[in-house]
Amino acid sequence: MLIEMPRHTEIFGSLKIHEMQRVLKIDSGGFENPRAKDIPFDKIKDVLRRLALVIPVKDENINLLDGVLRAIPFDCTIIVVSNSKREPQDIYKMEKDVVARIHDYSQQEILCIHQKDPQLGFAFYEAGYEYLLDNDKLVRDGKSEGMIAGMILAKSLGKEFIGFTDADNYIPSSVREYVIDYAAGFCMAESPYSMVRLHWRYKPKVVDDKLYFKKWGRVSETTNKYLNLLISTRTGFETGVVITGNAGEHALTTKLADIMSYSTGYSVEPYHFIYLFDNYGLEVEEMAHPDAASAGIEIFQIETLNPHIHEEKGEEHVDNMLLGSLSTIYHCKLCNDYVRSKVLEELGDIMKLETPKKTVIMPSIGGIDPHRFVKILEGTAESFARFEQGTIESEEEREVEET
Ligand code: GDP
Ligand code: CO
Repeated sequence: MLIEMPRHTEIFGSLKIHEMQRVLKIDSGGFENPRAKDIPFDKIKDVLRRLALVIPVKDENINLLDGVLRAIPFDCTIIVVSNSKREPQDIYKMEKDVVARIHDYSQQEILCIHQKDPQLGFAFYEAGYEYLLDNDKLVRDGKSEGMIAGMILAKSLGKEFIGFTDADNYIPSSVREYVIDYAAGFCMAESPYSMVRLHWRYKPKVVDDKLYFKKWGRVSETTNKYLNLLISTRTGFETGVVITGNAGEHALTTKLADIMSYSTGYSVEPYHFIYLFDNYGLEVEEMAHPDAASAGIEIFQIETLNPHIHEEKGEEHVDNMLLGSLSTIYHCKLCNDYVRSKVLEELGDIMKLETPKKTVIMPSIGGIDPHRFVKILEGTAESFARFEQGTIESEEEREVEET
């Protein structure tokens, strides 16, 4: 892959936030130039083997999930965490059937589980991690909650990198690119604590019966504005470095995944920044993880070559996303009166001048023993399925079998 070098890197305490980098060529030929880095495909493949891709899914069109699953490179492991309906029609069973069929002909390693499986709730309970359980000891609704379950499964497989991709993507090959972009990011990373976030080149919409290649959405534009304002008010220098505040498509090293806290539902992605600003930003006095602080935490923001076309979920969904994002900003340690007043102004229409509620924050998952966690699931969790990676028999093995 040929990828632009970041033009600038914002240093904010222990954080290194790299400016946007464009994908110049998905497949390249080893020719570098001063502005771009060439990453050979074998290096990318090496990362893919150590990466698990988590797909959170809730009642999406099955054809979309099917396309996404088929586009993910073979070398990575796929982990589907579903919160789809189980009655009157068992949508999860349909999803599992699609997974089984794809495994049948590809032999790719795929794990899947249902978010509401009582044994999943029990495994969290046994691990002492009750922060995402409801009163019935089931895992709550929420994308973030599903992602946490996915991360622990990835850890149980010893994966070093964990990526996420949504299930509602209309362009399967764009998903293939996203995964390769993640790997390229990790090939460039110098710190074991790093994160890759994707920025869409375009997010096409239908306007007057024509496709319009829109660049920015309302939620991401607003979230980015306020995340940048948090940095600017602290450093005294205006910045626009953050462009991936709401990046659902992102990946992180397991080492970083282990120390982060996570916000509930859809506010999980902007909260990554908030967590990092509050704990590793400028002039933070106490570092929770000094190793991470001294290694530095790197954030890559890669602009995809493919446009992003996904299911449109309506105005209410967009308002909720915005509210979730801005609440995490409003309640963060770095926020001052000025930023808070600006956030309230922004939310005026949606909130009718109430203050936004604090979002639920779930602490780090580093203390959960993933092997014990999976042992609880194996054999008891009705929805848990593990499809193992097939191995191609060698010529000799086949001969031995035949004789
Ligand atoms: P947007 O693309 O950010 O506007 O949000 P989506 O509604 O498309 O959600 C992103 C992904 O999360 C999709 O694949 C959803 O199906 C999935 N998702 C949404 N809610 C949940 C949930 O409660 N649990 C799980 N496991 N996945 C969810
Ligand atoms: Co979507």
